[in-house]
Amino acid sequence: MYYTVLELTQENVEGGRNLKNAKGKFVDLDTKKLDREKIDELDEYIDSLEDQKGSLIHILHKGQSLFGYLPENLQIYISRKIDIPAAKVNGVVSFYSFFTQEPRGKHTISICMGTACFVNGSDKIFNELKRELNVENNKMTEDGLFTLKDIRCVGACGLAPVVMVDDQVYGHVKVSDVSEIIKKYREED
Ligand code: FES
Repeated sequence: MYYTVLELTQENVEGGRNLKNAKGKFVDLDTKKLDREKIDELDEYIDSLEDQKGSLIHILHKGQSLFGYLPENLQIYISRKIDIPAAKVNGVVSFYSFFTQEPRGKHTISICMGTACFVNGSDKIFNELKRELNVENNKMTEDGLFTLKDIRCVGACGLAPVVMVDDQVYGHVKVSDVSEIIKKYREED
């Protein structure tokens, strides 16, 4: 069952109640939908909080655990539910790397672009990952299996260049290793 957020779209586009996209246009929510059951669960959680405005990070965590990510219309929904500007919600979501505004694949493949890894060729591995997965940075593959993202130093510089798949660390990775690493996870699923 879905809950259309049409009523959130046409009013009060001024005053921080909606979000602008990368082109500076207000997000058009007419076609966006939020899963009703998940919204009900989120509402229940928010309603149970004494200090709702002061619990924004907890609410966002709850939203992300329910929906898997924090799409713009969910951010707007939360902002209206607890009566704070949508831009503030978006600022928090953008600031913390553990929040994501994009759907995430089952596995996250992270390529370290820190200095030690970069000088050891992580940019070439990054390009090979993009080619092999047919996906851009911070995006999910079409089959929903992987999200690719670049990260900063993970403290394993002695293993540079480093690739991580979820919590598994792969060190001294070569371009020619990329397809084998991906294959392992494709075969598991
Ligand atoms: S720079 Fe990649 S692990 Fe430190």
